[in-house]
This record gives sequence, C-alpha cells and structure tokens, in this order.
Amino acid sequence: MTQANTTQQTYDQQLTKLANIVDLETYPIHDLEHPATKALIARCKVQLDDIGCSVIADFVLPEAQERMRQEARKLLPCIFRSEQKHNPYMTKEDKALAEQHPNRYLQHRTAGFINTDIIPKESDMLAMYDNDIMTRFIGECLGIWPIYPWADPLARCPYGVLEDGDYFPWHFDGNEFTVSVSVEQPDEGGTFEYAPNIRSIENENIEGVKRVINGDKTDVYELEWKPGYLQLFKGRYSLHRVQQVKGPRAWITALPTYMTDPDTVNRPEHSKQFYGRALPIHFEREGNRPDNLSD
Ligand SMILES: [Fe+2]
Repeated sequence: MTQANTTQQTYDQQLTKLANIVDLETYPIHDLEHPATKALIARCKVQLDDIGCSVIADFVLPEAQERMRQEARKLLPCIFRSEQKHNPYMTKEDKALAEQHPNRYLQHRTAGFINTDIIPKESDMLAMYDNDIMTRFIGECLGIWPIYPWADPLARCPYGVLEDGDYFPWHFDGNEFTVSVSVEQPDEGGTFEYAPNIRSIENENIEGVKRVINGDKTDVYELEWKPGYLQLFKGRYSLHRVQQVKGPRAWITALPTYMTDPDTVNRPEHSKQFYGRALPIHFEREGNRPDNLSD
C-alpha cells in the first residue's frame, strides 16, 4: 500500500470515529472550506482576541456525552485528589508585600484528576483527542500552528473533577491556552467565572485583580457551561475560578491538552503533586525543557 493510500485510510478512519462523537452536521470541522466551519473559526478567533474565551455549544453528540459521563463516573473511585493553598499567580507568598496585595491572598484549592492512563483505550474522549481532524480544527480556532496532542501519559487528556465542597480559586494560568469539554455539571455551584484580559504583559493591574478577588463582579463574566460544550480559553491574562461545587453530582470537565512542543512532559514533582505519580518518562525528560521558567 502506498503512503498516500495509508494516509487516506487513516483520515477516513478518524473521520468515521469523529462522526460518532462530534456533531459534524452542525459543525463540519473536517471541512475547513465549508462556510459554516469558516464562520465558526472566525467567531472563535474574534472572541478569543476580545475576551479570551470562546464556547461551542452542543459540540459533542448526546450519545457520546452519555458515554463520556458513564466512563468518568465509573473511574471516580480511582481519582487522585490534591489540595493546596495558593495565590492567584500560583507563586510563593511574599511577606514583604502589603497584606492586601493579591500575592498574599491565599485560597484553598481542592480538586481531583482522573489520569489519562487509566481511561480505556476505546474511550470517545481519547478518540476525539487523538484525532488529526480535531487537532487541526483547534489549531485553526486558536490561530496557532502546528499544535500536537501531548506526550505526558497522565496529564495529556484527563478528566478534571470537583466534588461536593471542592473549589478551584481565582488564578491565572501558566500556559497560553486551554481546551475543555464539559462532561457533567453539578446541581449547584461549579460556575466558571473570568475577568477577561484583566492584566497584560505590560500591566499586572494589581488594583483590578484586588477588586475581583474582593468580590467586585463589574468585570467578571460567567460562562454558560453544559455537558457537550467545548471551551477554548486563554487564561494567562484572564483571572478565573470555578465556584464551589455543591451536591451529589460532580463538576467533570475533560482537559484535552495541546502543545506546540509535544515532547516536554510535566516535571516529576509537578506530576506527583497533581496526578499522584511520576513515571519514568517524567524523569527521563526532566532536563529537556523548552525554556528556563521555574514551572
Ligand atoms: Fe486555569
């Protein structure tokens, strides 16, 4: 078989798989020239530039949503839970700063992950993630190319879970962008709130950050977030949090992670702290960093 044939066959297989998971009739993301896809990508780009956030409603088909929910529910007993007190920057508290400085605003995070390596191979979520059509579409929306699915066996596409009483406090992300897919929403709480572009490279806007963490909602948006929705988010400059979850239903959100440098994995310490384990690959690639940042 020629390489062209193999490539065509892989593409056809991936498209068939994706058609069982994503609503390709409403969102024909396999056809980048389709007017609906062009309009969708344009809309995502404008929103990402404008408010750092774009949501595609009902992206996942109802049957696939249900399979994802059942898969995650089944794996809940294997969740790795972690907790930490942190400030919005996820940095060390600096006691030399004034007490009202956001650096000294420490809040308690409790959350869990269903690690990617325990998700069954036939998972819809993984089939959607390890799919060239999907990767290409996400890259188009973000305006970043090439991007790749990640090499980290635990963190590449986990389910993030917040259960009754859990809270993910105000913070900025260290990474440029995040992709999320909602799988289950709690009865109460679990609302994603964000203050778009509240800081920039030139301006930390300490006063603005202070206002938000002290409860001023003037610049805060609430995300409409339902199972099957896909979110693209640029969290480096937008302060955000997930409100405390209440009740027996959990907040379950898949985090398919795309990288511009797919081979670098989490540091062993980071992996242990958030995913409960470090694997040989985390130690082997520890020296192999794209930059010299401490995280
Ligand atoms: Fe975040």
